[in-house]
Amino acid sequence: MGQHFINQFIISDLNDLEKFAKWVYSRINASDIIALEGDLGVGKTTFTQFFAKSMGVEESVTSPTFNIVKIYRGTDLTLYHFDAYRLKNSEDFFEIGGEDYLEAGGISIIEWPSNIEKILPESTKWIFMDYDEDMIKRRIRCTF
Ligand SMILES: Nc1ncnc2c1ncn2[C@@H]1O[C@H](COP(=O)(O)OP(=O)(O)O)[C@@H](O)[C@H]1O
Ligand SMILES: [Mg+2]
Repeated sequence: MGQHFINQFIISDLNDLEKFAKWVYSRINASDIIALEGDLGVGKTTFTQFFAKSMGVEESVTSPTFNIVKIYRGTDLTLYHFDAYRLKNSEDFFEIGGEDYLEAGGISIIEWPSNIEKILPESTKWIFMDYDEDMIKRRIRCTF
């Protein structure tokens, strides 16, 4: 994928993950797209829950797997939370009207983004989540 990471974090617990989500929130603007890459269980949806909290979303955020996208109203901006796991390719994404959401002026967070990587703009902010050497702590690398 050849991503250039400029920030790395080691996350020991959920408290650290919440701090990281606040850091991301402090760095995003309207219309940003966040591509969230990482294996099942690494913390993508949990990150999104903390991020939504930073945005002032009051509803509880749950995994959008069966809906592909879930929409939440924050204080100032709308959050579009995608799970592209069941999409085979970018055409599938077009079919659900995905690009309209991306261009609607909110914040988009996309889990399993590699399935639709072709249509993601250059400006997409990538976050890679995996495990640290101890296989317990999480390692997070960002292109921003
Ligand atoms: N940094 C973390 N430290 C401890 N537990 C975590 C951390 N991140 C996520 N978890 C826990 O791991 C489980 C799976 O997380 P989830 O966010 O659903 O993963 P994903 O969306 O990547 O599949 C949840 O029970 C969550 O509370
Ligand atoms: Mg998930």
